[in-house]
Amino acid sequence: FSSFLTDTFHRQHDYLRISITEKCNLRCLYCMPEEGVPQSPPEHLLTTPEIFLLSSVFVQQGVTKIRLTGGEPTVRRDILPLMHQIGSLRSLGLRELCLTTNGLSLHRKLDSMVEAGLTGINLSLDTLDPFQFQIMTRRKGFEAVMKSIERILEMNRLGAGIKLKINCVVMRGLNEREILPFVELGREQDLEVRFIEYMPFDGNKWSQGKMLSYQEMLDIIRAKYPELRKVQDQKNDTSKTYEVPGFVGRMGFITSMTHNFCGSCNRLRITSDGNLKVCLFGNAEVSLRDILRKGNEGRPIDERAFEAIKQIEMGRRQGISSAQGPLGGTKHEQELLEVIG
Ligand code: GTP
Ligand code: 5AD
Ligand code: SF4
Repeated sequence: FSSFLTDTFHRQHDYLRISITEKCNLRCLYCMPEEGVPQSPPEHLLTTPEIFLLSSVFVQQGVTKIRLTGGEPTVRRDILPLMHQIGSLRSLGLRELCLTTNGLSLHRKLDSMVEAGLTGINLSLDTLDPFQFQIMTRRKGFEAVMKSIERILEMNRLGAGIKLKINCVVMRGLNEREILPFVELGREQDLEVRFIEYMPFDGNKWSQGKMLSYQEMLDIIRAKYPELRKVQDQKNDTSKTYEVPGFVGRMGFITSMTHNFCGSCNRLRITSDGNLKVCLFGNAEVSLRDILRKGNEGRPIDERAFEAIKQIEMGRRQGISSAQGPLGGTKHEQELLEVIG
């Protein structure tokens, strides 16, 4: 692995997250306001051929895992052809093709996605109660989400082998009492429930007091399951994994607020309007879209994309090390930590 996708911390950036839309069919309280988020003009968004081209350049540079995200990726009309195209990159070294989704319309598209080579689904679900669902997402749709989960489990029983994770953002006073029922899902089902520390930010206007820490969640779970034990995490996992002996499934914790995991982050991100982001918390971005559209200057498009990526990776090497604070996180993570004390 000798490409520029390795940085000075010897982190190999082999995991690419691509946001394929800013739109969403839910309005989760912690994510966006009722009116939604401002949308970029359509011509600013990457087209399917552009997304495919960038994916293929990154795979040729050593990316082995691609995750499609949003907004809600399934609301993009051409998600199926796009997935089929990206799925074909297996022959160039792509090993995992994953989706982060709210599951609302997934059940309709799942079979075709699995055919395209989908290997993993992270499904956002914060409550197992239909009324609470409507409060937290400001929309109806609980049954549709459950139908998607059922279909995934059913396909897995038939041998599909889809890695299923349920992302559950825990908020004090809203769904903390559901932690234990979520843990119970793993008793019989082969899935991983990941409890996410809620991240307050300007846009969601929720107070830091709503954040329930990893430690508090662990205490709640340990009180009922004293036998809970830590499982060795994979090298680039952002979550901390645990299991209850005898359970088929597992659980994990995403501790963005209390423990930073920048040191092991192997992610690259492309926004829906084509910017390559070096860090979830950083502002540094380079427009891959502009480079792709600038005219060919006599050189093939993949060569130009390659150069652009190389440039930002060089910037990243300098940027990341200079942004390191005393606790080892990026500056922004430091700020977040200061906010919550
Ligand atoms: P896998 O590791 O492949 O399962 O995916 P993931 O956990 O990266 O993806 P997912 O889209 O399910 O994201 C889960 C949560 O992790 C979300 O709340 C993200 O905001 C958060 N997250 C993802 N990447 C990072 C990161 O680099 N830093 C921080 N702090 N949070 C991240
Ligand atoms: N805090 C924590 N997690 C969040 N997500 C979205 N907004 C927030 C926030 N403010 C989660 C979603 C989804 C994942 C990709 O990010 O629930 O599961
Ligand atoms: Fe945000 Fe995801 Fe909820 Fe949509 S489903 S509002 S993108 S957290």
